[in-house]
Amino acid sequence: NLGIIDIPVYIHIVYPDANSISNAQVNSQMATLNADFRDVNINQLPSGTTFANDATDAGFSFSLAGTFRHNDSRSSWGTNDAVKAAYPPITPDTHLNIWVCEIGGGILGYAQFPGGNASTDGVVLGGDYFGNTSGVYGLGRTGTHEVGHYFNLRHIWGDGRCNRDDFVTDTPKSDRSNGGCPSFPTTHCKSADMTMNYMDYTYDACMYMFTDGQRNRMRAIFASGGARASMVG
Ligand code: ARG
Ligand code: ZN
Ligand code: CA
Repeated sequence: NLGIIDIPVYIHIVYPDANSISNAQVNSQMATLNADFRDVNINQLPSGTTFANDATDAGFSFSLAGTFRHNDSRSSWGTNDAVKAAYPPITPDTHLNIWVCEIGGGILGYAQFPGGNASTDGVVLGGDYFGNTSGVYGLGRTGTHEVGHYFNLRHIWGDGRCNRDDFVTDTPKSDRSNGGCPSFPTTHCKSADMTMNYMDYTYDACMYMFTDGQRNRMRAIFASGGARASMVG
């Protein structure tokens, strides 16, 4: 039993004016991660409704280990890890590295799954979707979603048709992502989609849970022999 797993975080802010992303914005992202991964976020399904009992405390906390600001005139970085080559991760075997930059192309963020190259390990978030900002993606849940990937979670619909899997048994099958803020039930593959799961594509205010199965899948990589075991103990 690993207890609450604390993840130290390095934040790399890469913008023409790196001070345009404030410490308050950094802290708001940390607060969102800490609330969402302990299931103490305010948006919750009403008790008694479907899925309400499936929301779980994933048992992770996050502490800010350092913020690094880089003034860089490049206006978009894409999704090919260019920002990581320019500003390499710091001790990725023990720290979650998050780069905040203009990705471009309407991309909110992207992450590397466990087991990949150490030189590109971590999460990249667009500054407009980092911590508390404005708009429908303004609650920092892009960070929650991407850290979910970094912890080995797949999209809730398994990125495929109804028989494609996210390798988690207590998330219902679906054949597609959901966007916006769907009403319940939204049914695909003969059962209601868990549109309120962090690993769907719904608006930030409308996603607010991980399941037990997702918790177990995330925590498994921190156990002895797991791909991120070096981050604990
Ligand atoms: N499209 C991105 C991905 O697949 C992030 C989606 C984030 N969604 C959100 N509501 N913030 O990794
Ligand atoms: Zn995703
Ligand atoms: Ca599933």
